[in-house]
Amino acid sequence: MLAGERGEAIQLAMEILTRVGDVYGAEKMIAIASAHTVMTYYRIIMDAGVEICEKFAELGARYCVPTTLDPAGMDLKQWQELKIPEDYAERQMRIVRAQEQLGGIPVWTCTPYLHGNIPMPGQDLAWSESSAVVFANSVMGARTNRLTAVVDMAAGIAGRAPKFGLHLDENRQGEILVKINVKPKTLADNDYPAIGYFVGKQVADKIPVLTGVPRNVSTDQLKNMGAAMAASGSVALYHIPGVTPEARNIDKNFQKRKWDDVLDLDLKELTQTKEEMCTVNSGEVDFVTVGCPHYSIEEIRKLATLLEGKKIHRRTKFWIYTTRHVEMLAKRAGYSSIIEASGAQILTETCMLVSPTDIYGFKTLMTDSGKCAYYGPGLCKTEVLYGSIEDCVETAVKGSYNKSKS
Ligand code: F3S
Repeated sequence: MLAGERGEAIQLAMEILTRVGDVYGAEKMIAIASAHTVMTYYRIIMDAGVEICEKFAELGARYCVPTTLDPAGMDLKQWQELKIPEDYAERQMRIVRAQEQLGGIPVWTCTPYLHGNIPMPGQDLAWSESSAVVFANSVMGARTNRLTAVVDMAAGIAGRAPKFGLHLDENRQGEILVKINVKPKTLADNDYPAIGYFVGKQVADKIPVLTGVPRNVSTDQLKNMGAAMAASGSVALYHIPGVTPEARNIDKNFQKRKWDDVLDLDLKELTQTKEEMCTVNSGEVDFVTVGCPHYSIEEIRKLATLLEGKKIHRRTKFWIYTTRHVEMLAKRAGYSSIIEASGAQILTETCMLVSPTDIYGFKTLMTDSGKCAYYGPGLCKTEVLYGSIEDCVETAVKGSYNKSKS
């Protein structure tokens, strides 16, 4: 493949992959089951990314393993209504067209594991998008490094990835024990992103093993916790004994080694973390935004229930980010009409952080997402408030938030 016997496109892909492999000391290439690639123009792949997508398309490249696409840099349906600048949109659309030629699966979501790219435990993958990577490794027990855009594309084309890092057994062992000393039954949805935020900050790129998480923790709770952990730290894998596939019990996970490091998270730290996630604690709120990672249909259902019969304040935009699949289900289930009647809006195939939200000049953002709370000040250029979905709805209706009265 590297010698060009299977064509120029595969040769180029292998050149990229062998370079990465050399840097990380990989001894060989391995076959992968799927790829997931980040293809937003906004601040990620930019002009060089457009060119490499088009280069691969011109060379006649096709993905040889299922390859899903992360959110685009704008809502691909409503970008004109949302006043996305034409020249920006044209660049994103060049990426879209090139990806169509390559055969990318156009889910345009960071939750590919809910939309057809569903790996089996132990399978090797080449995914990028930190929240998807941590979910694939931890919850699904598959194996992928946190790759970058272009490397993941090359991997999808070649069907190979360099074997290093989290593809190796010895690099998947837990390194820090995190004891969550909060009654499991009292853990609410908005505690999980805060746990993720706290753990990510403390462990950086180490592999945490979390105890104290209830066995009936939901997929959405793990999705939202992992996304925050991968944002405030660079965690790509965590273990929860009794829950995640590689951590059936702590001894096995640590291969009978003594714990190197132990971290306690009690109610006090959890409360402090939620405070730290906010840059302000009261005032007018002109942007309420949820769906980072993309909302599931269950999260949309819960939100529709909370919004039923309510009206969003005129100063406030309430934008919910999800996939076209979920949007379609929400329409069929009647949730969309409730959401729209309130004045909130569903946006698809993008999100508040990978699209140019800063063009609207919002001053204060409120979210239920730990990842959005972490990146919001820098990328959306706003103050940030973190709260539960109930807080988000109440704030959107009032147009303001006052912590002391909440
Ligand atoms: Fe997904 Fe955008 Fe958040 S890609 S994880 S919704 S930053």
